[in-house]
Amino acid sequence: MGEGVKSSMPAVTAMAHPNLALVKYWGQRDTVRQLPLNDSISVNLSGATTTTTVQFDVALEKDEFELDGARPSAAAVARVSAHMQRIRALAGIPTYARVQSRNSFPAGIGIASSASGFAALTLAGTRAAGLALDAKALSSLARLGSGSACRSIPDGFAEWLAGTGEDSYAVQLAPPEHWDLAIVTVYFDPQPKAISSLEGHRAAPSSPFFEARLRQLGETLRTVRWAVLERDFSTLGMAVEREALSLHVIAMSSRVAGQPHLSGIYYWQPQTLALMHAVQRWRAEGLAVAFTLDAGPAVHLLVEAENRGALLEAVGGVLPALGGQVLVSAPGMGARVVDEEKGKFNAESRVF
Ligand code: DP6
Repeated sequence: MGEGVKSSMPAVTAMAHPNLALVKYWGQRDTVRQLPLNDSISVNLSGATTTTTVQFDVALEKDEFELDGARPSAAAVARVSAHMQRIRALAGIPTYARVQSRNSFPAGIGIASSASGFAALTLAGTRAAGLALDAKALSSLARLGSGSACRSIPDGFAEWLAGTGEDSYAVQLAPPEHWDLAIVTVYFDPQPKAISSLEGHRAAPSSPFFEARLRQLGETLRTVRWAVLERDFSTLGMAVEREALSLHVIAMSSRVAGQPHLSGIYYWQPQTLALMHAVQRWRAEGLAVAFTLDAGPAVHLLVEAENRGALLEAVGGVLPALGGQVLVSAPGMGARVVDEEKGKFNAESRVF
């Protein structure tokens, strides 16, 4: 392309869902290339979406980024621009781009907008630059924007193979229709995360329990992979719940660089713990439900779809006292290009 770039390169819009880790990514082998220390497994959340439009324009003197109709923080602009720079380098073009992104869900509620955001940006950006990357290359590139974004590229259930370099990407474990699960995310007042995932990853190896976690992960991955493929809910639920607790044990016993006043990272709020107790109670009463937690106070509740109503009723019983809100998802699709002419959410063209 180079010299031949026209001012009217087409705008491309892509959408992607955030993903929920069933086996977590926590701790990095390489902080620059965003290589994880372990494989992880996730499911896309159909109930939340990021939609991003990218257009390269020779008239621009720098990248422009708008998020939910406003100008984001300088740090967010720099992170997006660094990703656009990767795309320019791949495509061999010098042109800056206009990036407009919308989230269907509020920030800071415990659903990582960076995963859906960088998955949608990677697909829209590469297409707008005239590239047609395959699913592995897209996933690998999305990873450089935000580690977990690589898992929002494939449809449904994904496994991120840790790898050691360009072989670090996510592949599909099962399509969304493989298992009719309901994921009910209970979130509380949006609050800025005190300790970012990045700081959490960096601090993780300082936990005296981190090596034990890594030793355990081979078995956890085998169990969760098997439970997903066999649709064995009770095996999945217990493994996923213990896995989330393992991440939090590490976080709580980590030493955060530059913050000597912290004895550990506590992502839970009182409502988080109240829901964890409620889940144990509901299970004892016969509801096959399990929770998982990421690096924040939100609680993600998993059930098979036939139990969605019973779970929502149970959650409705405790929610007024806790003051939270819910977002309901099923296993979602991967990143895809949106056909703007036919309507954003109706007609989507698959890319792979
Ligand atoms: C706890 O480094 O992908 O969600 O800060 O959103 O870019 P961002 O997070 P990332 O770490 C995700 C950590 C996690 C577990 C997981 O998703 O596997």
